[in-house]
Amino acid sequence: MKFANDFLFGAATAAYQVEGAWNQDGKGMSNWDEFTKIPGKTFNGTNGDVAADHYNRYKEDIALMAEMGLESYRFSISWPRIFPNGDDEINPKGIEFYNNLIDECLKHGIVPFVTLYHWDLPLTLEKEGGWLNKKTGEAFVNYAKTCFEAFGDRVKNFITFNETVVFCGSGYLAGAHPPGIQNDVKKYFQAIHNVFYAHACAVLEYKKLDLFGEIGLSNVFSPAFPVTDGHEDTLAAIHANEYGTHWFYDPILHGKYPEYVIKRLEKNGYLPDWTTGELKTLAKAAPLNDFMGLNYYQPIRVEKISGEVEKIEITRENSTGSPGNPSFDGYYRSVKMDDKRYTKWDWEISPEGFLEGLEMLKDRYGQIKLYITENGLGDEDPIIDGVICDIPRIKFIEEHLKSVKEAVKRGIHIKGYYAWSAIDLLSWLNGYKKQYGFIYIDHKNNLERKKKMSFHWYKNIIETRGKEL
Ligand code: BG6
Repeated sequence: MKFANDFLFGAATAAYQVEGAWNQDGKGMSNWDEFTKIPGKTFNGTNGDVAADHYNRYKEDIALMAEMGLESYRFSISWPRIFPNGDDEINPKGIEFYNNLIDECLKHGIVPFVTLYHWDLPLTLEKEGGWLNKKTGEAFVNYAKTCFEAFGDRVKNFITFNETVVFCGSGYLAGAHPPGIQNDVKKYFQAIHNVFYAHACAVLEYKKLDLFGEIGLSNVFSPAFPVTDGHEDTLAAIHANEYGTHWFYDPILHGKYPEYVIKRLEKNGYLPDWTTGELKTLAKAAPLNDFMGLNYYQPIRVEKISGEVEKIEITRENSTGSPGNPSFDGYYRSVKMDDKRYTKWDWEISPEGFLEGLEMLKDRYGQIKLYITENGLGDEDPIIDGVICDIPRIKFIEEHLKSVKEAVKRGIHIKGYYAWSAIDLLSWLNGYKKQYGFIYIDHKNNLERKKKMSFHWYKNIIETRGKEL
């Protein structure tokens, strides 16, 4: 079987991770520009000041993507490049840059797939309370509308937010992302709701403009499976899916939060401060979502914690995605299993879990349109005789694309696949050490671009529409 001609083979990046040019051409400071300069906050003190310098070298990068045969490029817009202070004056140079980037994609026949928020919040807004302040949501809607009006004639796919669970979890539970707050469950749930309300408002604004494009949101997708088929572990998996998946997908696709979690939050005093109007807006926007983006890296294997609730201290060190931690409420723990495969960063490699998870989503949400907006392997790629031999990445993507193929065969409505990442970039918690790209960036040699083995492999997959997988 080949993938259909309208299935998009793509790859993705995010502004802070690739652009660099952190203070060029009138860009304002973001929360990340500040956070990464605080000693001890990032891996080896790395930051995105220069990153891959994509801002200045986008033409070269897009040309390479075109050579790879990429059909679509998912990138994010840096909000403080458009609104240096978050909400008042527009920076024309910011608009110009994204116009150029979009036009460059189109020149090469690459479909631009745009994320509006991939975690770099204008610093002024962070200082005023960030996602805990409802004004940030209003500013987001204004920024989103500005982008729809400026780019919506050529951009036909907008993602509002990337991985709410990650930036809110890392920002308010683990303290690993800005604003660096630890273990504040109440704030975590409040920030999530404020983000989802802003998403719903942005969807409504988009639809008013009649731009004949599509809008959605990208969630991380980590389906939970019990480590045994015993009753307790089964309960643990149900609990983990309610908190980790349904809490994030229901408000977007069903227009309301799951009762299972609401009841528990009410009991513990963690229920967000929301208004009836906000909840109605979620319900109104839900049927207008055109697609859901899934970022899949790994599933989560869980076991129930019995007896005393463990003391939960979530930190940057233990929040980088490897198993072994209790959930914030002490109900379950994630487990590294002997019979599973793991990456160097202890992320489970499970194309089977991907497929099973997709079936779970279909059961709950029906035939929604899906894009796999991220999937890939973080690794330290060996260079042998000048060749970047990222064979494990090829294997990883091949296995996961096979799952996508099988899912499509089973009637799951997947319309595209975006490998993470198009080019090597800054990993938020692992600096430049952890590579994901098809294109290597030589940090010792003027950021020179080099094609990895996976570059040639992916090119062939695209050309043959996955027939050989
Ligand atoms: C996703 C993010 O969570 O995972 C990306 O959307 C990120 O921005 C990717 O880079 C991989 O995570 P990490 O920690 O390995 O860089």
